[in-house]
Amino acid sequence: MLLTKDAFGKDFMWGVSTAAYQIEGAHNQGGKGLSIWDIFVKKKNKIFQNQHGDTTCDFYNRYTQDLYLMYSLNIRNYRFSISWSRILPDGTGEINEEGIDFYNRLIDISLELGITPWVTLYHWDLPGALEGKGGWVNRDIREWFGNYVSICVAHFGDRVTNWMILNEPLVFSAAGYFLGVHAPGRKGLNNFLAAAHHAALAQAHGARVIKSMQTDSNVGTTFSCSHIEPFTMKEKDILAAKRADALLNRLFLEPLLGLGYPTKDIKILNRIEKYMKQNDENDLVFNMDFIGIQNYTREVIRYATFVPFLQAKIVSAKERKVEMTSMNWEIYPESMYHMLRKYNAYPNIPPLIITENGAAFPDVVESNQVDDRKRIKYLQDTIVQVSRAKQEGVKVNGYFVWTFLDNFEWAEGYHPRFGLVYVDFQTQNRIVKSSGHWYANFLK
Ligand code: NOJ
Repeated sequence: MLLTKDAFGKDFMWGVSTAAYQIEGAHNQGGKGLSIWDIFVKKKNKIFQNQHGDTTCDFYNRYTQDLYLMYSLNIRNYRFSISWSRILPDGTGEINEEGIDFYNRLIDISLELGITPWVTLYHWDLPGALEGKGGWVNRDIREWFGNYVSICVAHFGDRVTNWMILNEPLVFSAAGYFLGVHAPGRKGLNNFLAAAHHAALAQAHGARVIKSMQTDSNVGTTFSCSHIEPFTMKEKDILAAKRADALLNRLFLEPLLGLGYPTKDIKILNRIEKYMKQNDENDLVFNMDFIGIQNYTREVIRYATFVPFLQAKIVSAKERKVEMTSMNWEIYPESMYHMLRKYNAYPNIPPLIITENGAAFPDVVESNQVDDRKRIKYLQDTIVQVSRAKQEGVKVNGYFVWTFLDNFEWAEGYHPRFGLVYVDFQTQNRIVKSSGHWYANFLK
């Protein structure tokens, strides 16, 4: 099916997404404090080949050219994140004016080019000073975060109305505080449950702070999600898949909607009560203007006795011998359709926006060009699935490609290239890939 953007209507928002730590570099420039990622990447063997984001795409110094490039590709919505430690080097206290100036310029140039800013307030780069006080495990983070959010709204709210509170709270609480594979590298169930609960509280609190300051704001938050299927139709696998779904797709959405944590499906979650205070259940609820969904693949799940708490495990794409991206994620665009249908089916769900979707492939430069046909096909096939869901009545209002520039992919370093634009990290040269030209043409 050949799809045009007209099929989505003129109000549908098309854009690209990025995140501060993954593209800005300048980790210690402009008065910035160190974030947990600046610190984590310096520990041995945490990141692929001990790579780090100290410079990455050097977007902090090259944002003007990059925004012009974005403009030239007909992109008119740009989702980026603000680095908390650029605004507040210690996480609380004194404001770093140079940080404010940087985001002011970024916002101003975007607007001059007719590009609407969509701001993520937290994309995983917690100020290191706050991690020193316990980070997401410390309940005070609700207030630290609220204070930071209020500073962002006070400084940028005259020009920014689209806000996303958190980026993928499940990923940063689980990878950062349970598995220890992301910053700050902490482990264990107690750290995870505390971090998850405080993130859920901060999510609703941050949204309330914005609404109290800016009446015309458009406030959302973003969730990672994957369509889940059981490996076999045996009851054990079906139940394991249900538990995985509760963890991967429902843990943060349901308390926000007033449904509480999915403790019926994951018993161990009852232990979150240890961190709950009176009225928390109500405080977790907030009626967002939109929900951001970030989907890349599906997961096939089987029963596994040896996996603590969950008794479920992912049957990898490798084991299943299916086609994969450089992340070893199965190429499965229908997952997007299923997630849109699933989230849309919740009563009182606000409109959905796909705040991230994309694919990493081993791109090669030949005669100064990158012919990334697989990425074009992945994006086209996923957009077809979005259209299918929309035609069936799902309220979905936008689609943002992850990502604009190849960048630092967290623990995976630089090898997975997700960009519409190729970046040579030695020279900082940019080459628009065939997918970038394709997207520009699609958006024309
Ligand atoms: C999720 C995250 O929000 C983003 O930072 C990451 O690079 C992409 N998905 C791809 O893994």
